Amino acid sequence: MLTYQFSDKVAFITGASSGIGRETALQFAAAKANVVVSDINEKDGLAVVEEIKKNGGEAIFVQTNVADYEQVKSAIEQTLATYGRLDFGINNAGIGGPFTRISDYQLADYQQVMKINVDGVFYCMQWQLQQMLKQESGGVIINTSSIAGLRGLKNSSVYSASKHAVLGLTKSAALEYASKNIRINAICPVFTRTPLFDQMFALDPSYEERLKNNIPMKRYGQPIDIVKTILWLCSDDASFVTGQAYALDGGMTAG
Ligand SMILES: NC(=O)c1ccc[n+]([C@@H]2O[C@H](COP(=O)([O-])OP(=O)(O)OC[C@H]3O[C@@H](n4cnc5c(N)ncnc54)[C@H](O)[C@@H]3O)[C@@H](O)[C@H]2O)c1
Repeated sequence: MLTYQFSDKVAFITGASSGIGRETALQFAAAKANVVVSDINEKDGLAVVEEIKKNGGEAIFVQTNVADYEQVKSAIEQTLATYGRLDFGINNAGIGGPFTRISDYQLADYQQVMKINVDGVFYCMQWQLQQMLKQESGGVIINTSSIAGLRGLKNSSVYSASKHAVLGLTKSAALEYASKNIRINAICPVFTRTPLFDQMFALDPSYEERLKNNIPMKRYGQPIDIVKTILWLCSDDASFVTGQAYALDGGMTAG
């Protein structure tokens, strides 16, 4: 368990039914935050809330498709109606899209990846920022990019473009709100063991072993590796940090 204390704080987490978002929700709850588990997947989201409550934490589930502007607005409204404030916006929901070259990439797939990974982050930031601006205490936003937001990724061009866009939103917003007590950063995980990861390697398990060797630490990320940085960025220990993109990648982008 991590050692942060976020009593009376409110964390809104998208994509919180699974993987990195799920672990983020569990760790915020363990740190005594009030947690809004937001996801398109209701069944798994309710299970996360149940687990948090079983462990003595506080959480609600708000079903949200981040690609739908009105649903995002309503999710933030439900957060405020329940907990009265918003301290942390963790914009983590995202999809990988198909593995294929640009010349073969279907337009509908392109639009879906961009809608969820880019529009979704923009919608969340817009409504989160409107609330944080009203609070003297401001707030912290963390957007989930990827190492594919820092470099190209063969056969994943649209995913890579979407994650580069997340960094553009993050850095520009950090400049806009730096003087308003609102810090905005991004995390850029390397391949991390979640259902999204398993889906990626399901077709070719040998690729999983080969790719691991490209990571200097010779291991994949675990959700907790990523969540440690999310919690640190939300804590006062990171009070002078904004507009940054943290590569959480076992050294992969160092070379
Ligand atoms: N796992 C990795 O290797 C890896 C690496 C780098 C970045 N990331 C990023 O981390 C984030 C989380 O990924 P993960 O690996 O935990 O994936 P995951 O598939 O385990 O979880 C993603 C969650 O997002 C939800 N979601 C999907 N579309 C949604 C929508 N339209 N609205 C709301 N929720 C939606 C899913 O239901 C799921 O619960 C993503 O943004 C992903 O791009 C993951």
